[in-house]
This record gives sequence, C-alpha cells and structure tokens, in this order.
Amino acid sequence: MAVARLAMGVSDVEALKREAGIAACDFVRDGMKLGLGTGSTVRYTVLEIGRRMAEEGLSVVGVPTSEATRELAESLGIPLVPLSEAGVLDLVIDGADEFDSAFALIKGGGGALTREKIVAQSANGMVVVADDRKQVDLLGAFDLPIEVLPFEWERTRQRVEEMCPGQVSRRGGDDPFVTDNGGYILDCSFGASISNPRSLESDLLDIAGVVEVGLFVGICDAVVMAASGGVVTLLNESGRLG
Ligand code: 5RP
Repeated sequence: MAVARLAMGVSDVEALKREAGIAACDFVRDGMKLGLGTGSTVRYTVLEIGRRMAEEGLSVVGVPTSEATRELAESLGIPLVPLSEAGVLDLVIDGADEFDSAFALIKGGGGALTREKIVAQSANGMVVVADDRKQVDLLGAFDLPIEVLPFEWERTRQRVEEMCPGQVSRRGGDDPFVTDNGGYILDCSFGASISNPRSLESDLLDIAGVVEVGLFVGICDAVVMAASGGVVTLLNESGRLG
C-alpha cells in the first residue's frame, strides 16, 4: 500500500479528490440547508452542487465555512445564508486532513478549522470527503492545526509546546498566515500518537489564546473515501446517518 501511495502522481490524487467530492453529493437532497466545507476535495462537491443547480434544478441553500468557499459558491450561483438565519443545517460536507477508525478528524490544513467546527456543530450530519491517504490508525502524523489569537501568541505557543512532544510552528513563519478570523495557525507535531483526541482537544482549549483546535471528535457521521480501486462510503455506526 505504501508503495502504491508513493507511486501516485499529482493528477491521480486530484482524480481521487474529484471522485470523492462528487460522490458525496449522493447525500444531498432538494431543499437542504448545507454547510459547505473548505479545501481542494470539497471544492469538487461545491462545483457539483453548482452544476446540479444549473442543469438539474436542484435547490439548496449553503453556509460557507471560509471566504474562499463563499467566493466559489457565489460564483456558481449557490444561495448563501448566515447560520443565524439558516438555523440547524441538514448536512455539512467537508474535507479532512486525517480520519481514524472512530471517525475522529484532524482538520485545519486550509486554516478554516474554527468556522468549519462552528458550522459542523450546527448540522444534523457531517460527511467527510477524502482520498485514502487521509485514513490513519492514530491521528497526529499530520501536524495538528490550532487557531490562536495574535495577542501574545508566543506565550500561547509556549503553553501549547508544554503539551506537544514535537515542534509547534506558526504557519507562514515570519510572514504569518492569517485566518479569515484574523487569527494565526500553530501547526503542532504530535506524531501519530493521538489516542485520546477528545481529552487532548479539551486540554488545548483550556489554554487562553487558543481559539479552536483542529480535532473534530464525535461529529463525523460518514467518510466518502476515494481510492484507486473506487469510492467507498464508510458509515459511522454510532453516527446520525446510518
Ligand atoms: C481546511 C480543512 C480541509 O478540509 C482539509 O485541510 C482537507 O483539505 P484538502 O481536501 O485540500 O486536502 O480542514 O481547513
């Protein structure tokens, strides 16, 4: 499997993202209020929703999880509403950087984790779109993104470092990446060692200055995963879509 992954070119990965992104639209029904995730995989979902609206008369409203997704959805003519107006969403479809067998996720590779979690916690279901490189036994090989306030962020980083066995770096270094909320992202090298994501999330959230942690636990109901052999939908048996 590792050899196959190494041999996979950029265009193969892009094809898998597209397959997963489009296949997830099977969960979409007319009239739904949808959370629209952020990233290169879910981008294909948003494009497909736009296509179905234009060509097949699908009618949905969306809540975007980033300014990038807002722009994309607007360009496709997908009507957008704020959460305060939408109320509880029927479904959110989003990408992930890693997912484990308990459907816990690392998110935030695109820096949108805070808005993504707000939207996901406001939905009756969450479907993740991913290629099979994202499936892991233990979370953490992908550096865990944490959004922090710019105010005294180095002190916040020191406190995060006390909990993290590896490096904690501000994304972008001296030319920092700034989130849609005006925050910074700390990328934290835990290594593939996160056996209790719920307690780690809670411990990190206790640090003043931490806005949100890119661990999503007990939120994801299904993963639409594309691999070279085809697309499979992994359903969380304790989830809401089973
Ligand atoms: C953005 C995210 C993305 O969903 C995650 O990084 C996956 O993105 P991609 O599909 O581009 O690999 O959490 O904050």
